[in-house]
Amino acid sequence: MSILFESIKLGDLTLKNRIVMSPMTRSRAGKERIANELMAKYYSQRADVGLIISEATSVDPMGEGYPDTPGIYNDKQVEGWKLVTNAVHKKNGLIFLQMWHVGRMSDPMYLNGATPVAPSAIGPKQGSAFVPLTNPPKPVGIPRELSTEEIKQIVQRFIQGAKNAKNAGFDGVEIHGANGYLLDQFLQDSSNKRTDEYGGSLENRMRFPLQVLDGVLSVWDKNRVGYHIAPRCDAFGMGDSDSLATFSVLVEQINKRQIAFICSREKLGLDSKLDHLRKIFNGIYIANESFDKNMAEKLLNEQRADMVAFGKPILANPDFVTRIKMDAKLNKADEKTFYALVGEIGYTDYPYLDFGI
Ligand SMILES: Cc1cc2nc3c(=O)[nH]c(=O)nc-3n(C[C@H](O)[C@H](O)[C@H](O)COP(=O)(O)O)c2cc1C
Repeated sequence: MSILFESIKLGDLTLKNRIVMSPMTRSRAGKERIANELMAKYYSQRADVGLIISEATSVDPMGEGYPDTPGIYNDKQVEGWKLVTNAVHKKNGLIFLQMWHVGRMSDPMYLNGATPVAPSAIGPKQGSAFVPLTNPPKPVGIPRELSTEEIKQIVQRFIQGAKNAKNAGFDGVEIHGANGYLLDQFLQDSSNKRTDEYGGSLENRMRFPLQVLDGVLSVWDKNRVGYHIAPRCDAFGMGDSDSLATFSVLVEQINKRQIAFICSREKLGLDSKLDHLRKIFNGIYIANESFDKNMAEKLLNEQRADMVAFGKPILANPDFVTRIKMDAKLNKADEKTFYALVGEIGYTDYPYLDFGI
C-alpha cells in the first residue's frame, strides 16, 4: 500500500491517512460571514482525508479582506461552524480551523470604511497585489500602523477566536502565519519597520506571531495546534532580507512549544528550505504546493515530510482519496468559481467517480 494511505499520529489524534486538505478561501459564507449548510456539505464531502484545515477564518472584524469569508468572532459564527464540524465528524473526519487576520491585505470596503491595519504604514510592492475579487481590480492601499496597545488587543482576539473554535466543535486550530497576512507582515522585514518591541530585530519581529501562538496555547492543548508558514516570501509583495535565517529561527521557536504540526507552503525542490526547516521541527511536518500522487509518495518515502497537503486537487475532487487510490483521472479545478459568490457551482457540484452503478 502507498505510504499516503497509512495512518499517522498527529499529537493525540490518529489520522486515517497522510493526506491533508489545504486551507482554501471559498467566499460562500454570505454577508454576515457565518458558516452554513452548504459549507457543511462541501467539507463533509471531503472528510475522508486524514485532516481538513478549514478556509482562513478571521478572528477580528478588522482582519477581514475578502467578501463572504467566514469569521469566528461572534456567537452566530460559532453556531454556523457547528454545522460544519458536526457534518465532518458524522463522516468520521477531523477538521482544524485556520485562524486569520489579513492586516494590510484589505480595503476600507471590507472594514466599514476604516483603513486596514499593519505593523507599519507600508503597502505591498506596487503592482504585486490587488484587492481580491473586485472588478475591476483595485490596488491595495497604504495601511495604518498599529499602536503597541492595539497589537496586544489583536493577540486577545486570537485567544477569543481559539476559545470560539473550541465551542464550535473543531478538533484543533491552525494559526495562519503565511501568505503575506498580518503575522507574516510582522515577521518579514520588508513590511515591518517598527521601532517598539514589535519591530527591528528578528526577536522583536517574531514577538507578535509568538504571542499569538502562546495565547492560542493557553486555550488549546499543544497537540491540537498547528502553524502555517510560507518561507518562499513571495505572497502579495512580501519580502525578507534573510528569509532562511528568519524562518529557521521562527521554526526553532515554534518547535520549542512542541505543537502538533507545521504546514509549509513551499514548492518542492525549488530550494533547500523545505528540508532544512523540516529538520529543525520535531512535530508533524506537512508539505504543500503543486503535489501530485507520485511526488507526494516520493517525499514521504524519503521522509522529507510526514504528510502532504493538497489544495486545488481536493477542491475539484470530493472523492480525491478514492481517486488517487485507484489512480483514476482527476477533475480539473475551475478558477472562475474559486471565489465567485455562486453558491454550489464549482463548490459542492464537482462530480464523483462514476462507477456506473
Ligand atoms: C481558491 C484558493 C483559496 C485559498 N485560500 C487559502 C487560505 O484561506 N489559507 C491558506 O493558507 N492558503 C490558501 N490557499 C493556498 C492553498 O492552501 C495551497 O497552499 C495552494 O493552493 C497550493 O497547493 P495546491 O498546489 O495543492 O493547490 C488557497 C488556494 C486556493 C486555490
